[in-house]
Amino acid sequence: MKEKLEAILQAARQAAEQAPDEKQIEEIRVKYLGKKGELTALLKQMGSLSPEERPKMGQLVNDAKARVEAVINARKERLKSAAVELKLKAETLDITLPEKRVNVGGLHPLSIVTNDLIDIFQSMGFDVLDGPEVETDYYNFECLNVPADHPARDMQDTFYLADKILLRTQTSAAQIRTMETRKPPIRIICPGRVFRADEVDATHSPVFHQLEGLVVDKGVTMCDLMGVLEQFAHEIYGEDVKVRFRPSFFPFTEPSVEVDVSCTECGGKGCRVCKGEGWIEILGAGMVHPNVLRSCGIDPDVYTGFAFGIGIDRITTTRYKISDIRLLFENDKRFLEQF
Ligand code: DAH
Repeated sequence: MKEKLEAILQAARQAAEQAPDEKQIEEIRVKYLGKKGELTALLKQMGSLSPEERPKMGQLVNDAKARVEAVINARKERLKSAAVELKLKAETLDITLPEKRVNVGGLHPLSIVTNDLIDIFQSMGFDVLDGPEVETDYYNFECLNVPADHPARDMQDTFYLADKILLRTQTSAAQIRTMETRKPPIRIICPGRVFRADEVDATHSPVFHQLEGLVVDKGVTMCDLMGVLEQFAHEIYGEDVKVRFRPSFFPFTEPSVEVDVSCTECGGKGCRVCKGEGWIEILGAGMVHPNVLRSCGIDPDVYTGFAFGIGIDRITTTRYKISDIRLLFENDKRFLEQF
């Protein structure tokens, strides 16, 4: 029996040491140490031994079991760490490789400027509203005191989608929609896209952006208009910029003005950007026409107001010294990545 034990021990050790993977080592464990294993079988045969021999033999078998177990465990450990090593090797990172560039998006210059404009007017207490891009003739023209024979109503200037349905040519429609739903005091801005059937060139695009403003309350005067717009111009262009109010005409304001700032390129001396004028026009404004107030159910004898429409594209091109408005719409990444 001793020899048999020795033989089993030998065979088990050899098998364990040569086991190529964890699955086989488990099979070996079952083969020798399992309930029906060879060493267990040997223990069962001990009944045939003499009472003196039995404890000795029992001791030997148990020792053998422990040794086989130790060999198997050692092999198991080795296989395990070899597997980990293999895995680590396969996953090795070459930290000297250049990193993969992650392309994070950025804000379009028009969005940056629009956000800045919103910040400026919000800090003055204006609410920000949104209006539809598809408008009716009523909101875009009629209610704004634009007479039926006004050239702006011509098909050449306005994109009509159907009879009396059009793409808004100005954000001014927001004035009417606001006064229909809110009662004075009103202080709102409405930024958005507008559309005109213009030929594309360096300063014109059929799609561009405006920011409409409207203030209506008791006792609002031209001084309020000038104060707000001067403040706005200085916040956008800096304290040194000069601001000029020029008499103008809009059907929905009386009196009307256009606001210029000293040329951001030449400081007022005259250059290519300001076409030698020294000034750049940035917005139209005026005191809300009594007819407009009246058509919205606001009594012009009690309330007055002022309105303004800022050209967002113009503010953007002057601020960033962009010489061609088309760059804003071409979505060339090389251009957009500069902001
Ligand atoms: N809607 C005008 C335009 O597109 C700009 C404008 C002028 C808006 C005077 C106003 C305003 O609110 O009072 O040219």
